[in-house]
Amino acid sequence: MSYHPAPEYDVVGVGFGPSNLALAIALDDCARKQRVSCRSVFVERQPSFKWHGGMLLPGSNMQISFLKDLVSLRDPTSPFTFINYLHKSGRLLDFTNCRTFYPSRIEFNDYLRWVAGQFESVVEYGETVVAVEPVSAGQSVVALRVLTQTEGGEERSRIARNLVVAVGGLPHIPAVFRAVAGDPRVMHTSGYLDSPVTAGFGGCAPRVAVIGGGQSAAEVTLDLSDRIPDSNIDLIFRGHALKPSDSSPFVNEIFNPEYTDYFYSQADGQREAIVRSFRNTNYAVVDPDLLDQLYRMTYQQRVTGARRLAVHPRSEIVAAHARPEGIVLELLNRDEDVRHRATYDAIVLATGYERSPVPAFLDPIRRYIEGGTLDRDYRLQTSPAFRPQVHLQGCAETSHGLSDTLLSVLPIRAQEITTSLASTRAKQFDPEQHLVERVYL
Ligand SMILES: Cc1cc2nc3c(=O)[nH]c(=O)nc-3n(C[C@H](O)[C@H](O)[C@H](O)COP(=O)(O)OP(=O)(O)OC[C@H]3O[C@@H](n4cnc5c(N)ncnc54)[C@H](O)[C@@H]3O)c2cc1C
Ligand SMILES: NC(=O)c1ccc[n+]([C@@H]2O[C@H](COP(=O)([O-])OP(=O)(O)OC[C@H]3O[C@@H](n4cnc5c(N)ncnc54)[C@H](OP(=O)(O)O)[C@@H]3O)[C@@H](O)[C@H]2O)c1
Repeated sequence: MSYHPAPEYDVVGVGFGPSNLALAIALDDCARKQRVSCRSVFVERQPSFKWHGGMLLPGSNMQISFLKDLVSLRDPTSPFTFINYLHKSGRLLDFTNCRTFYPSRIEFNDYLRWVAGQFESVVEYGETVVAVEPVSAGQSVVALRVLTQTEGGEERSRIARNLVVAVGGLPHIPAVFRAVAGDPRVMHTSGYLDSPVTAGFGGCAPRVAVIGGGQSAAEVTLDLSDRIPDSNIDLIFRGHALKPSDSSPFVNEIFNPEYTDYFYSQADGQREAIVRSFRNTNYAVVDPDLLDQLYRMTYQQRVTGARRLAVHPRSEIVAAHARPEGIVLELLNRDEDVRHRATYDAIVLATGYERSPVPAFLDPIRRYIEGGTLDRDYRLQTSPAFRPQVHLQGCAETSHGLSDTLLSVLPIRAQEITTSLASTRAKQFDPEQHLVERVYL
C-alpha cells in the first residue's frame, strides 16, 4: 500500500461562511500585492455554499447596508464588492431603482455564493473538522494536524502552519426542550426551511408554537402565516412585549471598526456593561417594520374575527412532552402565577444561537492556550513553545464587541488577521520534518 503524506498548508480555514470568505479575499489580495504564494484551504461542512439556508425566507431582508459587504470597507475598488456583483448580474440600475441599502437575504446569499464560486479551488465542501492536534518537533509544537470527516464518513488529515476558525454559532436548544428535541415535530429556526412544518400538514389547520421574541421568531411567524394560511400560531416569549431593534445612526457607530479598538481597551467589567447596554441592537429584538406588520396582522384579525395568530408575552415554558396527539407545553405566567397546557402539531424554537469561546475540536491543543482572551488580532494566546497561529472569528463578542458575530467589520477583521499572519516569519517547521523554514506569505 502506498503512503500519502498529509498535504501541508500555510493557512487552513475551518468553515466557509462570510467570515472566512472575507479572509479568502484578503489573503488573495495580500498574496497578489506582495507577489508571494500562500497555500491555503478552507474546509466547509455544508455540501455547497449557503448562508443560513434554513432561514432564506422569501420576505426577509438584510439587517445591514450592502456597503458592509465582504470587502468594500477595506477596498471599494475590489472585484468582490456587492456593487460589482450587481454589475456582473446585469441588475445594477434595477437595484438602484429599488432605493434601498438592504437587499433581500436571498440576494445577499446569491452575492456570497458568487464570491465563493471564485474561490472554488481553495475550498473543500462536505467535510467537517472534528479535531485539531499538535504536531511536535522536540519541545515545540511546530504545526497542527487538522482531522476531518467527509459526508461519506471518510477521515482526512491536513497539516496546517496556521489555523483560522470561523464556525458561527450552534442552535440554542433550551434545557426544557432537550427531551423532545429529537422529535420531528420540534425544530430550531436554523433548520426551518428544511423542516416538515414548511411542507404543510396535509390540509388540516395545524397548531404551531413559535418560541422566542427575536428577529427569527418574528420572521418565521410571518412566513408560516403566509405559507400555511389556515395555521393557528402562538408566538410565545418571556418578555413583556416584542421590542424593536435599535439601528439608529449614533448607536450604529458601535459597529464601526474603530469602536473595536475602544472596546478592546476597556476592562472586563466595562466591556460587559457596554454589551448589556447595546443588547437591543441585536438580541431578542425585531426590525421595527416587521413589528408593524405583525401588529397590523393581529389587529386585522380582531376586525374580521378570524384569529389565527396569538401573541403570548410573559410566558415561560416549564415543561414539554411528546405525545401521540402533539407536543404538549406547560406554560407559566409568572406575573399572575397562572399555569396552563397547550398541545401543538409543531414547535419552532426561535431561541437563538450559542457560541463557544474555543470550539470543542480544539480540545487537543487546549493545554497550550494561555489566558482567556484573544489578542487584538483575534489570535489565541498560546505558550511560547506553540508556534502555529490560531485565529478565531465570531467567538470574541466579550473581548471585541457586538460586531464580532455580525457582518459589520468582516473586511477589516480579515485584513487584521491577514496582516498578523503575514508579519510572522514562519520558523514553524523543523527541516527534519520535511518542511522548510521560509518567510511566510
Ligand atoms: C438568519 C440569520 C440572518 C442574519 N442576518 C444578518 C444580517 O443581516 N447582518 C448581519 O450583520 N448579521 C446577520 N446575521 C449574523 C451572522 O452571524 C452573520 O451574518 C454571519 O453569518 C457570520 O459569518 P460566519 O462566517 O462567522 O459564520 P456562519 O455564517 O455561521 O458560517 C460558519 C460556517 O462554518 C461551517 N462549519 C461549522 N462548523 C464546522 C466544522 N466543524 N467544520 C467545517 N465547517 C464548519 C458552517 O457550516 C458554516 O457554513 C444573521 C444570522 C442569522 C442566523
Ligand atoms: N433578516 C435577518 O437579517 C435576520 C433574521 C433572523 C435572525 N437574524 C439575526 O440572527 C441573530 C439571532 O437572532 P434570533 O432571533 O435567532 O435569536 P435572539 O435574538 O438571540 O433571540 C432568541 C430569543 O429566544 C428566547 N429564548 C432563549 N432561551 C429561551 C428559553 N430558555 N426559554 C424561552 N425563550 C428563550 C430569548 O428570550 P429572552 O430574551 O427572554 O432570553 C429571545 O427572545 C441576530 O443577530 C439577528 O439579528 C437576522
